[in-house]
Amino acid sequence: MSGSSFEIPYEEAARQAEYASLAAGIIENRYSSKPKAFVHTYGCQGNVSDGEKLKGMLTDAGYEFTDDVNEADLVLYNTCAVREHAEDRAFGNVGALKSLKMRNRNMRIFLCGCMVQQPHIAKKFYDSYPFVDVIFGTNALHRLPEFLYRSLSTGKRIVEIPGGDGFITEGIPVKRDSGYKAWLPIMYGCNNFCTYCIVPYVRGRERSRDPQIILNEVRELVAQGYKEITLLGQNVNSYGKNPDYGYNFARLLSEINDIEGDFIIRFMTSHPKDCTPELLETMARCDKVAKHLHLPFQSGSDRILKLMNRGYTAEHYLSLVEKAYSLMPDLSITADVIVGFPGETYEDFEMTKALVEKAGFTSMFTFIYSPREGTKAAAMDDPVPAEEKSRWFRELLDVQEKVAARRTASCVGKTYRALCEGRAKSGNIEARTSGNVIIEIPADDSVTGTFRNIRVTGAKTWMLYGEII
Ligand code: SAH
Ligand code: SF4
Ligand code: F3S
Repeated sequence: MSGSSFEIPYEEAARQAEYASLAAGIIENRYSSKPKAFVHTYGCQGNVSDGEKLKGMLTDAGYEFTDDVNEADLVLYNTCAVREHAEDRAFGNVGALKSLKMRNRNMRIFLCGCMVQQPHIAKKFYDSYPFVDVIFGTNALHRLPEFLYRSLSTGKRIVEIPGGDGFITEGIPVKRDSGYKAWLPIMYGCNNFCTYCIVPYVRGRERSRDPQIILNEVRELVAQGYKEITLLGQNVNSYGKNPDYGYNFARLLSEINDIEGDFIIRFMTSHPKDCTPELLETMARCDKVAKHLHLPFQSGSDRILKLMNRGYTAEHYLSLVEKAYSLMPDLSITADVIVGFPGETYEDFEMTKALVEKAGFTSMFTFIYSPREGTKAAAMDDPVPAEEKSRWFRELLDVQEKVAARRTASCVGKTYRALCEGRAKSGNIEARTSGNVIIEIPADDSVTGTFRNIRVTGAKTWMLYGEII
């Protein structure tokens, strides 16, 4: 191992486990039955995975969980900072807790995650919402038991937003939301500093977990019956650079694929600049790896891509797409795109539309640019009015809708092996194909968590209908 610039405090999990049992002692004396925690996570899958660790730590401290905030003894919001909309919702939801706290003075309100890793936001919560008890940033996530113990024993307010490059804390307990789908973070942080993005500021430097720990975790999950394992990282295909374990992402994927068992491997998010031919060839060769590539392109204009600091051109992106389809004809590619980056003109936007028409995405997440304080783009001139950006946004959705409808229509009559999940609003069961497309099927709950062969009988723009054969 070499070049490591961050800490892996192995003893920290044990220290926190001691705090969890101290907190459990207080809780046992204070409550006649198990207290209830309401944990809500905003944002990306990385945050959802953190949410499962938060629940793991709370379980050890003696909490059970509720979906009803009104009956909660502890409310924990795990926040996201990626766009203004996410932050506004969190401010609103936390504000609404004031009246609950007035009714139940013993209730504790905790905030954590990316939003409160920003000192100016943490201060705003602390000053404007005196009923918030504990605020802790992403670098202090693993210290929840310590904060819980301190809050329960002293009643004092706590703000902990350690700076620095971030940690890897192994050994934190996890309470998974699902019994058949698991999130598996393989790296944390991001070094790319795309000029619009807050993530590198709130998640610290890119750091990879030890491949042997990851491989063991996959073996354990498979032994426990997990059928879908999603490898997570903000830039998952740059895995293995710091520290250097002698593994790149392709090698890790290949060795996970060699683990025995019937399961599917997903990963996200991939960055085009780190999407190597070796990775695409590994995907094509590995039978357990989902034939789905989430590859955000952000813009189709080279001028804007440069201003965004993305490190590739539209032509390079399309060459990756072409290579990927040629290796995996049934591959499903999805992407993220930003509309209305500062200084973007309609001509730039037309290049984005052209790229979307060429790439043939199965689906696409389209975002209107949202300025994030402290990023480079936030200081750039942004003359295009919001209504104009909204028009572009709708135009782009129309383009992608046509592409997607063509793709789903071409699936009718074909058979896919898909993992059955829970129930959709329509009452049907949702099954997810290797390409990450949902097929709704009439079935009973017993199919949940199993792979089935499903023949597609109908198609809408974004989803399919089918029946088990
Ligand atoms: N690490 C991933 C995604 C990070 S955030 C990647 O590099 O692709 C998920 C998506 O949110 C991004 O792909 C981008 O499209 C969008 N996004 C990030 N910051 C944004 C901002 N300031 N305004 C609008 N969209 C943003
Ligand atoms: Fe943000 Fe870019 Fe890092 Fe993705 S790669 S998290 S968009 S800085
Ligand atoms: Fe949001 Fe943080 Fe994820 S800002 S998108 S929760 S890394």
